[in-house]
Amino acid sequence: MTEQPVLVLNGPNLGRLGVREPDIYGHTTHAELADLCRSAGADLGLRVEVRQTDSEAELVQWLHEAADGRVPVVINAGAFTHYSYALRDALAQVPVTTVEVHLSNPAAREEFRHTSVIAGVVTGSIAGFGVDSYVLALRAVAARLSA
Ligand code: DQA
Repeated sequence: MTEQPVLVLNGPNLGRLGVREPDIYGHTTHAELADLCRSAGADLGLRVEVRQTDSEAELVQWLHEAADGRVPVVINAGAFTHYSYALRDALAQVPVTTVEVHLSNPAAREEFRHTSVIAGVVTGSIAGFGVDSYVLALRAVAARLSA
């Protein structure tokens, strides 16, 4: 059986997980998060590819790739979440399940984090559960694929 591909895309500053504000984002490194996503995905029959970039342009290109290949996406857009209309427009083109994830709960933080310009074009959003947000998102993708 061919495993279903899923892209997990992480935006700016997420490559610094583990050293970046660990009181907010935890001690798990990006490499450990990627391992967690791949193994949680494998348990769900998903072939998860994890990518990270600090570049808005690269994220947009990866979303075009997902749109053309009809590949479900789990995305933590980092601070782009709050202001990137380019990312919103790219996400809106993905015709299959897309999940917005956050490690922290942006709604409980500074005012500027309360707005997500991507929330209106994704299938759903999961925030506030640390790295478990990603596992929950992958479960949601798997559930929709088998529905
Ligand atoms: C974040 C929340 C964003 O507000 C912030 O800019 C990030 C990380 C999170 O995962 O909690 O970079 O997306």
